[in-house]
Amino acid sequence: MKEQRVDPQVFRQVIGNFASGVTVITTREQDTNYGLTASAVTSLTLEPPMLLVCINKNTGTQAVISRTRTFGVNILDQDQAHLAYQFAKSQTDKFQGVDFSYGTSGVPLLTGALARIECRVAADVEAGTHRVFLAEVDSADTSTGAPLTYFRGTFGRFEMVQDEAVYQQIRDHILSRSLAIADALEPSKLSSQLNAAISSVYYALTRLTTEGLASRDLVKGYVITPIDVKTSDDTFDARCAIELGATDRAIGHLGADELAELRKRMEATLPLISGNRFVDFERYVAANTAFHEYFVGLAKSSALLDVYRRLSIEGIMWRIIWRTVSVFDQASEELTADHRRIVEAYEKGDKELARREIINHSERSKLTCRKAIEVSGGLV
Ligand SMILES: Cc1cc2nc3c(=O)[nH]c(=O)nc-3n(C[C@H](O)[C@H](O)[C@H](O)COP(=O)(O)O)c2cc1C
Repeated sequence: MKEQRVDPQVFRQVIGNFASGVTVITTREQDTNYGLTASAVTSLTLEPPMLLVCINKNTGTQAVISRTRTFGVNILDQDQAHLAYQFAKSQTDKFQGVDFSYGTSGVPLLTGALARIECRVAADVEAGTHRVFLAEVDSADTSTGAPLTYFRGTFGRFEMVQDEAVYQQIRDHILSRSLAIADALEPSKLSSQLNAAISSVYYALTRLTTEGLASRDLVKGYVITPIDVKTSDDTFDARCAIELGATDRAIGHLGADELAELRKRMEATLPLISGNRFVDFERYVAANTAFHEYFVGLAKSSALLDVYRRLSIEGIMWRIIWRTVSVFDQASEELTADHRRIVEAYEKGDKELARREIINHSERSKLTCRKAIEVSGGLV
């Protein structure tokens, strides 16, 4: 007998870290359909197109494939977890309630699967409890969608790194100075400008529409949603709530270094508003962002900081003020004085005072942006 190198349960746990998609392997013999859920499916060669599947010898599906030498591989969509459960249960009719059609080789192919592949067995090998089928691919088709995934024994969804990056880029683009109100956001143009897959662009636009930064226009398609006073007020109210939460967590728990850094960032904002005007709007936005982000970061909660960053205050300020900055003379020096008063309250460890100053600052920020939106005619 061979020496057992690793406990099978340990191996199952360890190999569960290898994330995969989920398929349903199907076959048919004498008017009866067979199928099972399988993740042990691998692409093998392109020339000729081949894949391999590993199927437990105790299953009806394995016995039938061994005889008919044909099977279908249905790569499940993220919305088909119920089928993964259904085909993993030993039962008489796994196809009950399942939509499918027959492929040219006669095997059942599941409707709505992300991809459907018909295979002919070229060779098979026995390996422990399983039989490995090496098969040539006769036909293959795919549809749009996203895969169901399997990782550490549970089903999940695939998060595309590129989707997130493209979403951030388009979000920055919308909030930047480069686009006019109600400008169309053309998916194909964005896709070539950003060198991104069109599906990632649609993902970003759908998400931005849910967030209210983009909207669907019947004629123009996706457009930039103009920012009005309400959107601006809501954003600053949300910032205020986050900062009050951050204060509750941070005040009285900070080291001298952290307070010194907060003071340094506050002082950097002071000279940038003078005589009711922004001395240098670009530098003001950068210094203001550096101050507020550090302030929220002092709560040492990455979730809070993440929510804060997602407000895109920096971008919203740009959108609201940059077009009018040359004529805008409503930037009260009190805005930066608020920063100083907040830091002083932190230095004293006076939570109530800090809360009051944060609320005052929020109201003043709202007022400033409201005036800028009014100067622009009510929408920016
Ligand atoms: C996510 C997942 C992946 C699976 N992968 C495989 C596999 O690759 N090979 C296999 O033989 N069984 C696999 N199974 C188990 C079979 O689907 C299950 O044992 C099935 O019920 C056996 O079919 P039977 O009803 O004909 O016995 C998997 C089950 C799940 C839930």
